[in-house]
Amino acid sequence: MLRKLFKRDTSSTITIDEHNVPRHVAIIMDGNGRWAKRRGMPRSMGHRAGADVLKEIVIAADEIGVSALTVYGFSTENWKRSAEEVGALMKLFRFYMKRLLKIAAEKNVRVKMIGDKRRFDADIIEGIDKLVETTKDNTGMTFTIAINYGGRDEIRRAVQKMLKEYRESPYDVEGVTEQFVADHLDTAGLPDPDLLIRTSGELRLSNYLLWQLAYSEIYVTDVLWPDFDEEELQNAIAAYNKRERRFGGR
Ligand code: FPP
Repeated sequence: MLRKLFKRDTSSTITIDEHNVPRHVAIIMDGNGRWAKRRGMPRSMGHRAGADVLKEIVIAADEIGVSALTVYGFSTENWKRSAEEVGALMKLFRFYMKRLLKIAAEKNVRVKMIGDKRRFDADIIEGIDKLVETTKDNTGMTFTIAINYGGRDEIRRAVQKMLKEYRESPYDVEGVTEQFVADHLDTAGLPDPDLLIRTSGELRLSNYLLWQLAYSEIYVTDVLWPDFDEEELQNAIAAYNKRERRFGGR
């Protein structure tokens, strides 16, 4: 069934096929810095605005019927940013994790974290563990946040896990299937993303979900992340509805 959604500020409509909603949407939330710069604000204000938008998008994605949403919150490369900006992002994570406990309870959302959390301060690690543990039995949308995440680093850690297991109990190496590798990634148990959304126009993957995005449809918008809203999400899904997915076949 086609669901017509009225745009807020125009009389035109966005049409989403309710039977073809992407099961898993992955997002690269780019453009916070540019958004702030255009307003003469510090970059940290862009991240704050970005965190507010993220809350709206979690709720909107759940309402549209997306069953998994995965966002890139902090990459393994983001540590190279100024101490001030990294500090502001850490402060935001602390604040956002508390807020997310409330949203997850209200919306029955299960929260997961991917990435190597070991590099964070102890209280952030505790916050992550509490959030994941408290929401693990929720049966609604799975919301995954990638922090200190890099696709190559995830594959490297998966290889380490496989080698450690082999050392403890050798197995038939011919049995190393794609599924076996996928089961050792941080995303084990999640379906691959059907749709990748990248905001603010850049045409690259930036080390995000390198294994998992193999057959995902890619949607890039020039809209900066703090300006992304429910209507933009609907636009992305409507564009996805028009794609013909072949997975390498014909
Ligand atoms: C990229 O924009 C954005 C980030 C590196 C951080 C994303 C973080 C948030 C949206 C805050 C909330 C997130 C969580 C998980 C609580 P950029 O700074 O690279 O923008 P630019 O390319 O315009 O400089």
